[in-house]
Amino acid sequence: MACFRPPYWLTLLTILVSLTWSPAIADEKDPARLIKFKSSLSNVGELSNWNDTVPPCNGLKENWKGVICDNNGNVFGLLLENMGLSGTIDTDTLAEITSIRTLSFTNNSFEGSIPNLEKMLPLRGVFLSYNKFSGEIGSDAFSGMSSLRKVELGNNNFTGKIPTSLTQLPVLVDLELQNNEFEGEIPDFEQKDLTVNFANNKLGGSIPNGLSNQDPKSFAGMSKYS
Ligand SMILES: *[C@@H]1O[C@H](CO)[C@@H](O)[C@H](O)[C@H]1NC(C)=O
Ligand SMILES: *[C@@H]1O[C@H](CO)[C@@H](O)[C@H](O)[C@H]1NC(C)=O
Ligand SMILES: *[C@@H]1O[C@H](CO)[C@@H](O)[C@H](O)[C@H]1NC(C)=O
Repeated sequence: MACFRPPYWLTLLTILVSLTWSPAIADEKDPARLIKFKSSLSNVGELSNWNDTVPPCNGLKENWKGVICDNNGNVFGLLLENMGLSGTIDTDTLAEITSIRTLSFTNNSFEGSIPNLEKMLPLRGVFLSYNKFSGEIGSDAFSGMSSLRKVELGNNNFTGKIPTSLTQLPVLVDLELQNNEFEGEIPDFEQKDLTVNFANNKLGGSIPNGLSNQDPKSFAGMSKYS
């Protein structure tokens, strides 16, 4: 009995098609998601070229100001710095753009609580320095963000304790919390290649063992007690 065997050229064609077929085509809903994200921001004059008549990315090159593109033409991040932006950072909508890995809102006029990052687990960088964010950050705000390398929250008005979930991020290399109102003791950090800046907060107690090799300036303004 002869069993069916596809001609070899068909097998070859199937293999070639599966090798070259890239599923990494930019998600066609991403432009609308970015426009929706923009709609909850205020003072968006710098984002006037965000218009879905052109795609946000053309390969690596961005068509929309402040969008970072990857080489598949997907939105890799947002670099919205020094733009005078305020309003709400709609991370629920940004989380639907699954290719996003980095978010910078450095030096704008955002106020209120830290944006909710719990749906943005793949982020590698979060840059919120030089805004007017305030309030406490929940201890588990960064839980499960296992790719997070850089967290910059300096020069805001954050209060309360340093969130302990930061101590559990396996690849964290850069943590900047300086010039805020963080208080209490510094939790221990054991990440090997981590650099921290905790200067000019209301922290107290002793420097934990895992941070004993940091630049002493990173603890300026700390009140020592034991
Ligand atoms: C995009 O540009 C077109 C033509 O200039 C304009 O009519 C439309 O309102 C713009 N859309 C947005 C979202 O700005
Ligand atoms: C912050 O952004 C403003 C524009 O909104 C700019 O004039 C200023 O130079 C920026 N500051 C820094 C330190 O980059
Ligand atoms: C922090 O809050 C104080 C008053 O509560 C205010 O004077 C100061 O300007 C704020 N700092 C920043 C960076 O927003």
